[in-house]
Amino acid sequence: MTSKTLQFKRPALHGDITVPGDKSISHRSVMFGAIAKGETTIEGFLLGDDCLSTIDCFRKLGVDIALDGTNVTVKSAGMHAWEEPKDILYTGNSGTTTRLMLGVLAGSNVHAILNGDASIGKRPMKRVIQPLREMNAHITGRADGQYTPLAVQGKKLTPIDYKMPVASAQVKSAILLAGLNAEGTTIVREEEASRDHTERMLRQFGAQIEVKDGVISFEGGQQLTATHVSVPGDISSAAFFLVAGALAQNSTITLRNVGLNPTRTGIIEALEAMGANLTITIDDENAAEPTGTIVVKNAPLKGTTIGGAVIPRLIDEIPIIALLATQAEGTTIIQNAEELKVKETNRIDAVVAELTKLGASIQPTDDGMIIEGPTPLRGALLHTYGDHRIGMMGAIAALLTEEAVTLDDADCIAVSYPTFFNDLNALM
Ligand code: S3P
Repeated sequence: MTSKTLQFKRPALHGDITVPGDKSISHRSVMFGAIAKGETTIEGFLLGDDCLSTIDCFRKLGVDIALDGTNVTVKSAGMHAWEEPKDILYTGNSGTTTRLMLGVLAGSNVHAILNGDASIGKRPMKRVIQPLREMNAHITGRADGQYTPLAVQGKKLTPIDYKMPVASAQVKSAILLAGLNAEGTTIVREEEASRDHTERMLRQFGAQIEVKDGVISFEGGQQLTATHVSVPGDISSAAFFLVAGALAQNSTITLRNVGLNPTRTGIIEALEAMGANLTITIDDENAAEPTGTIVVKNAPLKGTTIGGAVIPRLIDEIPIIALLATQAEGTTIIQNAEELKVKETNRIDAVVAELTKLGASIQPTDDGMIIEGPTPLRGALLHTYGDHRIGMMGAIAALLTEEAVTLDDADCIAVSYPTFFNDLNALM
């Protein structure tokens, strides 16, 4: 845990950033490569701590994974050739690793134990265990499987027709991955669309999957074929610089290689609703995952209401949107975002506490927060709660203060954006 003091004195920001690989897609690329028989090559892989945890887990299952910078090669004899791990699969701070691995392991032929860090130990796992148990999975764990550590004894699964009680791509993906080893049709019904990287990657690896009006269905027993995956830049990482460029006086920032999957672009809609000046060029709309370039220039901003179906499409961006709202004229209401309470930390409490220290006018609500702007921000000592997105929110806030902002733990940022401070410094 290393603290970091940032004193920037309100600089103008100029420059070009190639956004590092998408965290969600990087995890999935290794998982799918390990399930498929053959050699999968990945380019643009995110070397963040979370994705390295996923690689570690599969190495313990005997999968051959080689890293060369952001190029990764996964050689697998297929998931039924995995070795039974002799050690615990450690998922670190990664909810995606923990929850998706449960789905993957449930239909394997190995026994494995999953455990993560203190934050993972508080995050709800029942939402995944319950549908997996309905598929005949054998999973045990602390408090009847509500929390890690969790043990999975892989076995033959039965399909499920499941109506999602929360909009969660992690739950949906765990069910779909388990469905690969269930005999018959697995169906997942979503009321609100969550990120669809698993569905897209199933197709990329040769599976047939049908998605219509929020109903996803596919046949178990399909073999995945190893392939090449190009990981786009993470819009959730780009979001910090989109907000920096929108807020810092006389700034223009170009963000290249940004993933523009429509299930992830809620941040663009929120910025535009608040008056941000964005120019977007799409590179290839027909790619497995569309990408593009975004140019952001600072502009006067106004408050807005963010809620309903857009929430799952910007859930990870709410801390940085809250900072944006402190500088917008009028009231910003963020609602229907109770899922924030079960992220890496309780992000409603964390965002409200830390922005308040900086001088913001922000109140928590049961399902979000209300922010009045604009308020000048001042320096403070901020607590990150070990949460990468709270840490990056604090670092971007430091661009708006005369005094120093100190992060008590800057190391946590490496979970999703290990090169964050290099990119930030290059803009000044
Ligand atoms: C993710 C899904 C989201 C998101 C997380 C990554 C994924 O979580 O917050 O950072 O890769 O599927 P939920 O699915 O729990 O909402």
